[in-house]
Amino acid sequence: MSNADVGLIGLGTMGAMLSLNIAENGFKIAVYNRTTQVVRDFFDTAGELAPNILPCETIEELVAKIKPPHAIILMVPAGDPVDQQISELSKFLNRSDLIVDAGNANFRDTNRRSDAARSGGIPIMGIGVSGGEVGARYGPSIMAGGTAESWNRMQPILSAIAAKYEGIPCATHMGPDGAGHFVKAVHNGIEYADMQIIAEAYGILRDGMSFDAAKCGEVLEDWNTRLLKSYLVEISGMVASAFDPETGCAMLDIIEDRAGQKGTGRWTAIEAQHLGAPITVIEAAVAARNMSALKHMRVDGEKHFAGAPQAIGKDVITIADLEGALVAGKIICYAQGFDLLNAARREFGWSLPMAAIAEVWREGCIIRSAMLDDMASALRSAPDKNLMFAPYFSELLKSHVPALRRIASRALDAGHPVPALAAALSYFDSMRTARSTANMIQGQRDFFGAHGFERVDRDGTGFHGPWGSHCQ
Ligand code: 6PG
Repeated sequence: MSNADVGLIGLGTMGAMLSLNIAENGFKIAVYNRTTQVVRDFFDTAGELAPNILPCETIEELVAKIKPPHAIILMVPAGDPVDQQISELSKFLNRSDLIVDAGNANFRDTNRRSDAARSGGIPIMGIGVSGGEVGARYGPSIMAGGTAESWNRMQPILSAIAAKYEGIPCATHMGPDGAGHFVKAVHNGIEYADMQIIAEAYGILRDGMSFDAAKCGEVLEDWNTRLLKSYLVEISGMVASAFDPETGCAMLDIIEDRAGQKGTGRWTAIEAQHLGAPITVIEAAVAARNMSALKHMRVDGEKHFAGAPQAIGKDVITIADLEGALVAGKIICYAQGFDLLNAARREFGWSLPMAAIAEVWREGCIIRSAMLDDMASALRSAPDKNLMFAPYFSELLKSHVPALRRIASRALDAGHPVPALAAALSYFDSMRTARSTANMIQGQRDFFGAHGFERVDRDGTGFHGPWGSHCQ
């Protein structure tokens, strides 16, 4: 019987949770997974939601069980598996149907798939879904890309399953083609940066101030009551306070210091380079994950260079300084992320809804935080303006950058690696330096390559220096 409102392929953790969320919101969903047993197990454990779930053992059966025109969500790993599923589904769908890729796709792949759809393929929508397993089950943040028609069609389901911020669904249409996946990548870049600055603060507490993990947990819990209130600070506090039931040790003390990454943060940094957008805090966070992988080299380095961060006296920095440094670092990293979105908006001709992006990030996603509502307000009045210059954030920076400066400089003095906090401070300082040192770069470029420069005392371009025979 073809009465499902929507189909879903890929019952991994995220797909299973999203299916239950859709079913719980009153939609009938047909589900399929390549391994049939996974479908059966999922259905057997669906409990009271089972009447809204139609388990399918083949793609043909899945399509047959959905009301036409068919809409099918893909929750499979990004990359080739998505192309394979699209090609398989194309045998059973026609151009009135819709494929919705809800994985963490590279937006360039989504652009390519959208082009293919325009040249006769099945229409495709790429949606960024954030919030991890719990978000997928109880309300993710959804960044949708695709045509307005596709969005209108999926909007009732996406808005129903999305997280709600004061009753407003955290699901928005970002623009055509890969716009939704691009916004999701920037979300993940900010996620990396936010995680990294928290980790750097933890490092200063642990190695600089000799706090044990539980004490770090208390500090984070306290920070979560003020400006830094956010999901990431909250869970970092919980991670720091947890103990390993097997050994009785603090969990943080038994977790290996090598961070994984699936690639979305890296994509953000790569796209920022393509767009010429300086997202130095995000880049530092991606590089820090890469550094974390170099465990053997770091162990050798500590012996070779007699390293290890030194203690920082309580008379030198305070916990309040550290909190202030995170406030400033966080504002700067979000300012960079939104600037990158603006650069993409100009380059790709998208009309990205800047304030609405901050709004969909207020609930459900990994970077949800109290500050996002203020960011949404700032972007509503000045969507193109760097957030650092929005009156509210500018005042916050004026009052918190001194703490960031104390923390970054004292940490560097004592040998603590703080790449993201230091990048945030240098970005701030660069942004308030009217006369930079790029005049030297231009002089160098002209000297060795006759690239020409502009002069401060005359209009025009293509001036050259008197390097003459010294050249080359
Ligand atoms: C989210 C997350 C999620 C991401 C994981 C792992 O918004 O729910 O961003 O999509 O894939 O958190 O990311 P890394 O493996 O790259 O850390």
